[in-house]
Amino acid sequence: MAASPEQSPEPEPESEPGLELELEQRVRAIVAEHRDSRGALLPVLHAVKEELGYVDPSVIPVLAGELNLSRADVYGVITFYEDFRQSPPGRTTVRICRAEACRAVGAGALADRVRSRLGVSFGETTPDGAVTLDQVFCLGNCATGPAVEVDGRLHGRVTPERLDALLASVPQEADA
Ligand code: FES
Repeated sequence: MAASPEQSPEPEPESEPGLELELEQRVRAIVAEHRDSRGALLPVLHAVKEELGYVDPSVIPVLAGELNLSRADVYGVITFYEDFRQSPPGRTTVRICRAEACRAVGAGALADRVRSRLGVSFGETTPDGAVTLDQVFCLGNCATGPAVEVDGRLHGRVTPERLDALLASVPQEADA
């Protein structure tokens, strides 16, 4: 038999072992804000990413519990969308468009070049934490490709030389 709200105040959720309390509280607050959104998991994940910069896998049990989903469901969504990075990004994020219009004007060569220059693949961060390299499939700049975005700033008609210049302008020091 269901208890009435007067008889049984809602219990505090149990803390997740191994998860920092502050992080857990921030994630629960984000869920509370978006709980009523349609298909709440995606808006919640976007909000977590927006606030923390990434979706730490340690928050999966909290999200699953709060949204009444299985951990596997939450994990599946996080891993399906490249957008939901699971580790902190580098100090600078470089995104290369690899969609068709940009590919037709040289994005493939840029992709090879940037991976070789940075020594990382897409989705990875350089060991010094300076740069995270991502691929995207359209930056909305198709008429002036190849398109590259550096920390949210869009660059069009990027030649290999311009790419090198963009990479050279990335601060290398943590406090730069
Ligand atoms: S295809 Fe590259 S910006 Fe659209």
